[in-house]
Amino acid sequence: MKILVTGGAGYIGSHTIIDILENTEHDVVSIDNFSNSDAKTFDRIEEITGKRVKNYELDLTAYSSLKERFFNVEGPIDGIIHFAALKAVGESVEKPVLYYHNNLNGLINLLKCCQKYDVKHFIFSSSCTVYGNAKTQPVTELTPVQPPESPYGYTKLVGENILKDFSATKIGFNALSLRYFNPVGAHPSGKHGELPKGRPNNLVPIVTQFASGWLDELNIFGDDYETRDGTAIRDYIHVSDIANAHVLALEKLAESEHELDYDVYNLGTGDGVTVLEVIKAFEKSTGISVAYTISDRRAGDVECIYANNSKANRQLGWNPKYGIADAMISAWQWQQLLNTKRGDTVHSE
Ligand code: UFG
Repeated sequence: MKILVTGGAGYIGSHTIIDILENTEHDVVSIDNFSNSDAKTFDRIEEITGKRVKNYELDLTAYSSLKERFFNVEGPIDGIIHFAALKAVGESVEKPVLYYHNNLNGLINLLKCCQKYDVKHFIFSSSCTVYGNAKTQPVTELTPVQPPESPYGYTKLVGENILKDFSATKIGFNALSLRYFNPVGAHPSGKHGELPKGRPNNLVPIVTQFASGWLDELNIFGDDYETRDGTAIRDYIHVSDIANAHVLALEKLAESEHELDYDVYNLGTGDGVTVLEVIKAFEKSTGISVAYTISDRRAGDVECIYANNSKANRQLGWNPKYGIADAMISAWQWQQLLNTKRGDTVHSE
């Protein structure tokens, strides 16, 4: 297959490209406008895999340039793995129009191109945010979705619905939405990992940057939840495992072209881990103590969510290989590499 990865320089997109190059014979090409990523990502992908990936620096919301500068140039594409989107929950509350415009128009323009250029398979980055504050844990794909807490969450839920409807109408096109839980860690080589622009929003990069002295504080948002230690529970899944699921998902679509229109899969480990347990796992894996502070709950956070992943396991043959300790070790190796290069690769805050 020839695969287009959108957001190929981003955190999960780049790890997916590495998985494709390391483990398959598929060709891959990327579109990324570097709005929250760095062109140097492709150097690191080349260092790890020995292969150079071509990237088109395009904005998916510009339909004509997407057609003229990518699809008319690149020729037939068999499948698209669509990561390119804005993803900061808090920012989406402040800038809802930006999020709806970017995430939904980007998806719609890609689907218009699927129709025009006969792209048959599509994988969509969704999120466990669609389950909201689910009463029963772990959540399965049959757990009812709930009105999301943020515009970001809505773009994922609406994106899923658009794909479901589109897949039902277009013969020879099929799609899967993958609902990520909390992606963490870095490539096992420690040579490539997450590098958000500005201050990170997510727990693990905040912990590694705090441990490196890049950030002044590490707040635990609430220790009064009804959980075993009072801190919120999430399902932290290694980014390389998430990446691998995309390749399996696309291959499943290609194999079952006429039987499967649309489906969704949870991508989590199946284990719920508290914030304090994440910090302890980091301390144990690295031997570094982190002096955190307990602060108020963060608005919009749910108390507990973790996945039942048996559907992906059964139907995609997906088995997460890495645990939380692997994630902490690789995230820390990557952070240490960044520490040696600070000022060169790091974006200003
Ligand atoms: N947390 C802290 N301190 C921090 C950062 C996070 O205590 O400095 C806590 C949060 O309160 C939460 C947990 O760590 O309990 C994980 O927080 P993240 O920000 O890393 O991740 P979220 O679970 O909030 O968000 C993730 C994805 C979103 C997605 C959401 C769905 O990043 O894209 O899951 O629940 F929408």
